[in-house]
Amino acid sequence: MAILKIARMGHPVLLLRAAAVVDPKAPEIAQLIENMAETLEDAGGVGLAAPQVHESLRLFIYKVPGARADEGEDEVPLSAVINPEITPLSDEITMGWEGCLSIPGLRAAVPRYERIRLSGYNAAGDAFASEISGFHARVVQHETDHLNGILYPMRMSDFRYFGFTEETMKYDFPLPKVQLQQEPVNE
Ligand code: NI
Repeated sequence: MAILKIARMGHPVLLLRAAAVVDPKAPEIAQLIENMAETLEDAGGVGLAAPQVHESLRLFIYKVPGARADEGEDEVPLSAVINPEITPLSDEITMGWEGCLSIPGLRAAVPRYERIRLSGYNAAGDAFASEISGFHARVVQHETDHLNGILYPMRMSDFRYFGFTEETMKYDFPLPKVQLQQEPVNE
């Protein structure tokens, strides 16, 4: 196990389209997932994509702690997704706060699809598919974007809702309700 160095915004690895994982059951992929889990635990976020630790591969890990889950949603234990494919299940788009370990100290309100279908391979290398919504779907869209060289500021529609986490936490202002045309998330 090892704690990996996290690339920060401005590092070119974050702008690459990452390569598909050829063998989701390969031992080196399991090793990378373990090291990413330790790195995420140390850094204290909810998600981490392989390009953020300088590995330009299509995989990420994430969790939804109970405190972050939307009303009526279950928490999600730490999970890995290899070669994710996501498809919106409706046109509904919602605004929600996001941060990123590659953009420390800041957060922003970002438009995301409310409901998506997620498929890919889990940490054991087995194929799965599920339908997810709310904050869970938000995290998965954020992490999948990392695999396509997209950081959350590139998804923002209103830069008034971009600020230092510490400051924005002080002011509980309502997020704008928006219906926006968004580029397809799965490229
Ligand atoms: Ni991120």
